[in-house]
Amino acid sequence: MKKQSKIGILFRMLKLVKPLTGFMLMAIIFGTLGFLAAEFIPILGGYAILEGLGMDTGLTWKMIVILLLALAILRAIFRFAEQRTNHYIAFTLLAIIRDKVFGALRKLCPAKLEGRDKGDLIALITSDVELLEVFYAHTISPICIAVVAETIMCLFIGSFHPLLGLVALGAFLLVGVVLPVIISKRSGDTGEEIRKQSAELSAHMLESIRGIDDTLQYSFGKKRLGEISEKTEDLSKRQSALSNLTGTNLAIANVLILLSDIVMLAVCMFLYQSGQIEFDGFLIPMIALMSSFGPVTALSALGTTLQNTVVSGARVLAIMDEIPETEDITDGVNVTFTRATAENVTFNYGGENEKSVEKNDKSVAAERNNILTDVSVAVERNKIVGIVGKSGCGKSTLLKLFMRFWKVKDGSIKISDTDIENINTDSLRDMESYMTQETHLFKDTVANNIRIAKLDATDEEVVEACKKASIHEFIMSLPKGYETEVGELGSTLSGGERQRIGLARAFLHDAPFMLLDEPTSNLDSLNEAVILKSLKAESKDKSVLLVSHRQSTLRVADDIYEMEVGRIS
Ligand SMILES: Nc1ncnc2c1ncn2[C@@H]1O[C@H](COP(=O)(O)OP(=O)(O)OP(=O)(O)O)[C@@H](O)[C@H]1O
Ligand SMILES: [Mg+2]
Repeated sequence: MKKQSKIGILFRMLKLVKPLTGFMLMAIIFGTLGFLAAEFIPILGGYAILEGLGMDTGLTWKMIVILLLALAILRAIFRFAEQRTNHYIAFTLLAIIRDKVFGALRKLCPAKLEGRDKGDLIALITSDVELLEVFYAHTISPICIAVVAETIMCLFIGSFHPLLGLVALGAFLLVGVVLPVIISKRSGDTGEEIRKQSAELSAHMLESIRGIDDTLQYSFGKKRLGEISEKTEDLSKRQSALSNLTGTNLAIANVLILLSDIVMLAVCMFLYQSGQIEFDGFLIPMIALMSSFGPVTALSALGTTLQNTVVSGARVLAIMDEIPETEDITDGVNVTFTRATAENVTFNYGGENEKSVEKNDKSVAAERNNILTDVSVAVERNKIVGIVGKSGCGKSTLLKLFMRFWKVKDGSIKISDTDIENINTDSLRDMESYMTQETHLFKDTVANNIRIAKLDATDEEVVEACKKASIHEFIMSLPKGYETEVGELGSTLSGGERQRIGLARAFLHDAPFMLLDEPTSNLDSLNEAVILKSLKAESKDKSVLLVSHRQSTLRVADDIYEMEVGRIS
């Protein structure tokens, strides 16, 4: 993630508001009018006092009462309208931003998300985006409102004597600008730390729940629990530090306001005694200043929250900026499958972006870390090609390259003799049925879990695929058959059952090129035999690339490639 300047981030976040500029202007106008209505209530009170003292203010008692009532009602209406508009803007923008984040994540799949901390990702999608609400609903318009409302107030106060206007300006700048800047410096990275720690805690919790079996087995529970309480304590310490800071800031703001009032009083007294202002010029500016700190105190609280907003904004923008390992191709060609080949492929997982940073160092390191070196494989039509090799030698990696999840570093992967870099992603996905080494199931019915391979599949097609994968009978034995719900990640099914559902998906997808990663590793020989028979029958008009450790499975293969840490012999 590249580091961006805070101003740069704020500016980019601001740019997102563009489609809603009209609403933003409305919010600012409503807000300004709302504050002015509130501030002029005590000021009118001041005029009432003057009237009571028998001074000529140009106002009658009746007018004052009517104006007071009108201001009170307007205050409520404007305030409501402002809040309503601000929240409309914020939630509309959050929806837009969420959409963009999901779009970005979708493009980054799977390569860029493989090694990422899932807790961090969840925090990004939920709390980071959520925090931006503060920026869009409670930051932009309050700043503009404060500028406009306080300028009007300075002019009003200044109309009695310019010096009084300047005193007011100084007071507003102190509370609304100087104080928030100091506060934001003081709070430093606390916001970012809190965000990081809470993401870590979520990830740790998630892992603990997933790994509960292993934890129990190895009596690892106490240590794990200790880690959780340690993380919780750290987090709560930081959170209380932050709220202490917020409390202190509020106190400082109040002291500053009080001091400003005293200065104003002194200046008013001086001007009154030296005859430069009348009594009304003493009373009204005094009341006006005392009642007009609302808009700037709203800003003094921003010091702490702005830090968090910038941090969250930076994360959200960074994920939108991240360059995917492979882009979806839409301007390439559509091809009909004839054969698939890997030609002198060399590959490592060192990302391209990192490489461009320190080109020399990294490329040397990358050479040493090559997972595949000069690998060539040919899968002809109507053939089953097997790949064997030690664990970790790069078999699954090769299949991912055929799927174009990653880009080769050298050589090429071709389908129908066209480099897959030039084939449209949709066309590629239509030609390939990929069964991963670990089948992921969704918390849904068995039927829906299989149907993800072909959304418009008829019930007959689903059953047909399940028979080929030797899972139909098992499904029928379930209490609700195909409508039985499987738990999260298929937790209510055995490893072999999950595997066979994965196979059923591959059969249902019915693509001309099947890539199967260890399809039988968890199966008994009876089920294996059924599946191999289906596979042999399927391969009549298909090509199959089969990764397996099992000799019995490899017996169906027409060609077998042996892989040795990245090379094929
Ligand atoms: N996303 C990744 N980032 C970095 N390294 C990875 C990544 N995925 C896999 N590797 C590494 O690449 C090597 C090859 O992994 P691969 O999954 O292709 O092995 P495999 O031959 O399928 O092994 P197995 O038989 O155990 O499934 C391994 O050393 C693995 O640790
Ligand atoms: Mg593998």
